[in-house]
Amino acid sequence: MNGGYDDGYRACPCFWGTQPGSLVERWLGHHPVSKETRVLDAGCGEGKNAAFLSTLGAQVDAFDLSAAAIANARQAWPPRPGLTYAVADARHHAWSPGNYDLVIAYGLLHCLASPGEIEDVIARLQRATRLHGHAIVCVFNDRVQDLAAHPGFAPTLMSHAWYLDHFASWTLESATDQDLWETHPHNNIRHCHSMTRLIARKAAP
Ligand SMILES: C[S@@+](CC[C@H](N)C(=O)[O-])C[C@H]1O[C@@H](n2cnc3c(N)ncnc32)[C@H](O)[C@@H]1O
Repeated sequence: MNGGYDDGYRACPCFWGTQPGSLVERWLGHHPVSKETRVLDAGCGEGKNAAFLSTLGAQVDAFDLSAAAIANARQAWPPRPGLTYAVADARHHAWSPGNYDLVIAYGLLHCLASPGEIEDVIARLQRATRLHGHAIVCVFNDRVQDLAAHPGFAPTLMSHAWYLDHFASWTLESATDQDLWETHPHNNIRHCHSMTRLIARKAAP
């Protein structure tokens, strides 16, 4: 169960496009990247964020549950020193504490099966972030969801406030709850998702 995105990955080689997400661009506007910058991209899809950060010099570990997504990623942006891909499940992956300057969960969390699974993955991603490092989270929330373009997909929907609560001990650099209108290339159905988008900085306990 990966959100039903495999149909899209099989139908087109660059389902999510080639440009980094708007939140990644926003983060880059305020935070320089160097070859010391370590990034974890959890649920990376076809790697649009991972590959872009790696071209700027960051050391990026990217993984996704979908073998089809990772196959497309390897085709579009072949792995190289500083860019690794893995097929892996965020629910069962153990990351070293404090290992990453930036963790990204771009579209991952609503694919998980329950609030408990989301909490567990958030907690492990937070542990994997170094002190004063950042998390970028982009996730469907429970305000308005039109799932016409996602047949069979039942995302786990939590409120915007619920996500803010889970980053209450972090410093929020940006937090929005806005509608995203989009059309996926494999079925051409225009639809809308309410999205929580967060950039948060890990504060001292
Ligand atoms: C909305 S897509 C976003 C892909 C990518 N982050 C992007 O922004 O282009 C969500 C991705 O999360 C992946 N995913 C879902 N459940 C997962 C899990 N348990 N572990 C790892 N990846 C998962 C899906 O396969 C899918 O590629």
